[in-house]
Amino acid sequence: MSNSKTWFITGASQGLGLTLVKKLLENGYCVSATSRDAVKLAEAVGVDDAKHFLPLAVDLGNADAIDQSVRLTIDTFGKIDVVVNNAGYGMIGIAEQIPGQEIRKIFDVNVIAQILVTKSVLPFMRKQRSGYIINMGSVAGFVGAPGWSVYSATKAAIAAFSEVLALDVREFGIHVTVAEPSGLRTGFLTEHSLANNDIMIEGYEAVKKTQQQYLATNGKQPGDPGKAAEILMELAEKQQPPMHLYLGEDAYKRASAKLASMTTELEEWKSITISADFR
Ligand SMILES: NC(=O)c1ccc[n+]([C@@H]2O[C@H](COP(=O)([O-])OP(=O)(O)OC[C@H]3O[C@@H](n4cnc5c(N)ncnc54)[C@H](OP(=O)(O)O)[C@@H]3O)[C@@H](O)[C@H]2O)c1
Repeated sequence: MSNSKTWFITGASQGLGLTLVKKLLENGYCVSATSRDAVKLAEAVGVDDAKHFLPLAVDLGNADAIDQSVRLTIDTFGKIDVVVNNAGYGMIGIAEQIPGQEIRKIFDVNVIAQILVTKSVLPFMRKQRSGYIINMGSVAGFVGAPGWSVYSATKAAIAAFSEVLALDVREFGIHVTVAEPSGLRTGFLTEHSLANNDIMIEGYEAVKKTQQQYLATNGKQPGDPGKAAEILMELAEKQQPPMHLYLGEDAYKRASAKLASMTTELEEWKSITISADFR
């Protein structure tokens, strides 16, 4: 691995982001990491080494603050090679009951912030004619479970954004991957992170059941954030990293079952599908 690379990671005070920052610093990389709370971030990382580590308080809802943090990173380390748009949170509930402002807020954090960070780093990456952007999606963006409609929509949006971005920036030597884990054992399902909307409406039995099932897996998720972090570090060394990378056996099984059923349905309806064009 070439540890001369500089990484920029959002949402780094806990979970996957924190694990990744620690591993990168242990391996001698330069790391700029953002959090809503830079003191909590610096304490959690526990490394006082200004030559390699730049902890930043950034409000990811503020484009100017993001631009400033990117500029400060370039001023400090001279470049940004790898961006991990990691900050994000989950939301369980039913669409008819989740308040509109909560829906907008999760789109702001899980989607718009990733796009704003990308907008901010691209001019530098284009100039250096290299760069790698890893966007944190989720298997839920491709195969959602009952109760996760709004969260799944944010992660599907980021997958679609990443796919087209990859096409747009390929000519500049910039690569893009959307990483799509299934359950990772982080703070994701805790009260601190998850927006959990209790369902006050009769019915919605499938949602109520999966809501309980998901909450019961907190602390027992099979996904190891340490392994996921190491995989991201390996990806950054690849000449041709993947467009989508599912992480975890559950993610693999769910994605592969959906691909198979989509292919079957696509072929079953092929004659109708193509009959919609002018002849
Ligand atoms: N854990 C899973 O099962 C799983 C599965 C699929 C995808 N993911 C995705 O993986 C990424 C990392 O999550 P994690 O599992 O490490 O969860 P986590 O332990 O809850 O950490 C999430 C990080 O995102 C940031 N964040 C959360 N809410 C935020 C908000 N409202 N505004 C700004 N930043 C916010 C936090 O940053 P600060 O507090 O430092 O600001 C936090 O460090 C997320 O994008 C998540 O959607 C997780």
